[in-house]
Amino acid sequence: MFHIIGTGMYVPERIVTNDELATMVDTNDEWIKQRVGIAERRVSTEEWTSEMAYKAALAALENANCKPEDLDYIITATVSGETVSPSTACMVQKLLGATCPAMEINAACSAFLFLLETAAGFFARKKANKILVVGAERLSGIIDWSDRGTCIIFGDGAGAAVLSNDVDGYLDSVVTVQGNDEVIKILTAVGCSPFFTKEADTPYVHMMGQETFKYAVSSICNDVNTLLTQNNLTLDDISYIVPHQANKRIIDFAAKRLKTTEDKFYVNIERYGNTSSASIPIALDELNRAGKLKHGDYIILTAFGGGLANAACLLRW
Ligand code: COA
Repeated sequence: MFHIIGTGMYVPERIVTNDELATMVDTNDEWIKQRVGIAERRVSTEEWTSEMAYKAALAALENANCKPEDLDYIITATVSGETVSPSTACMVQKLLGATCPAMEINAACSAFLFLLETAAGFFARKKANKILVVGAERLSGIIDWSDRGTCIIFGDGAGAAVLSNDVDGYLDSVVTVQGNDEVIKILTAVGCSPFFTKEADTPYVHMMGQETFKYAVSSICNDVNTLLTQNNLTLDDISYIVPHQANKRIIDFAAKRLKTTEDKFYVNIERYGNTSSASIPIALDELNRAGKLKHGDYIILTAFGGGLANAACLLRW
C-alpha cells in the first residue's frame, strides 16, 4: 500500500513555561509536571495554522527528497485553522506552489491516523504515488486562557509526512468513533443570525478531564491489543508505540495496563504539551531524525480525542 518516506515538524519559537502560566491562572509548575507531565509548550505569536503546516510540510518534503510537483494529494487535519474555507490543505498547496488536489479532515486529536487511513484508500485505488499529510494546530486560539483545566494542557505546532506507494509499510489499522459531545467539545462561534434562538457556550475547548483520561487509557490499550492480536505479534516485536501526547500519566497508565515498560512509548509531551493532530507526526519526526527508527521496525501509532474518535495503526518502517 504505502510507507512513510519523509517526516517534518514545525513549532513556533515562543515558549510558555508552567511558571508563566502560574501568573495567569491558579496553578503551579509542580502540579502540572506531576499530573500531566508538561514543562512547557509552544505558542504562536504571529503564524496562522496554515503557515505552521507549510513549514512542517517543507521539512517533510526535504526529508523525503521530494518536490511539491511530485505530490498527487495534500491532506491536512486541524481543529484550529484560520479559515474553514479555504481549508488549511488548500493554503498549504498554495504556499508550496503545488497543483495537486488538497483537502482537510477533522477528527480532532486522532486525525493524523485518519489522514493515513484516507491516504491508504487513494493508494489502494491507484490514484496516487505520493501524498503529503499534515496535522497542524494553533490551539492557543481556541483555548479559554482563564480555565486552568484546559489552558495548561495544549500547545501549538505542526507535523507532516510524505507517503509513497513503492513499499507496503501500512500493515493494519483500527478506527473507532462513538459520537459524543459531553466529554470533549470545541465550539465554534455561534454567529449573529437574528433567527437562531439557542443559547451557546463559549467558542473554546470544553473537556471533562477525568472522563477523557479513562477513555484515553482504555482506547490505547484496546487498540494496541487489537493490532497485536490481528497480526500475531506481541509487544516484544514492536520497537516503539507512538501515542498521541495528551498526558504523560495517560501513557504511564496504558503502559502499566499493557504490562510493558514506559520506554516502549515515545514521549515528548514535556516540551510541547498536547498539539492535537500534530502530536503524532511531531513525535514521528523526532524519532526519525534521531535515527531511532530502523528499516523493518514495527511501530504502532495510537490516538484518541474529540469525537469521540480513537484509532491506531501498525507500520513497518
Ligand atoms: N493546577 C493546580 N491544581 C489543579 C489544576 C491546575 N491546573 N486543575 C485542577 N486542579 C486541582 C483541582 O481543583 C483539584 O483539587 P481538589 O482535590 O482540592 O479539589 C485537584 O487538582 C484534582 O482535580 P482534577 O480535575 O480531578 O484533576 P485531574 O487529576 O483529573 O487532572 C487533567 C486534570 C485535566 C490534567 C486530567 O484530568 C487530564 O489530563 N485528563 C485528560 C485530558 C486530555 O487528555 N485531554 C486531551 C484529550 S485529546
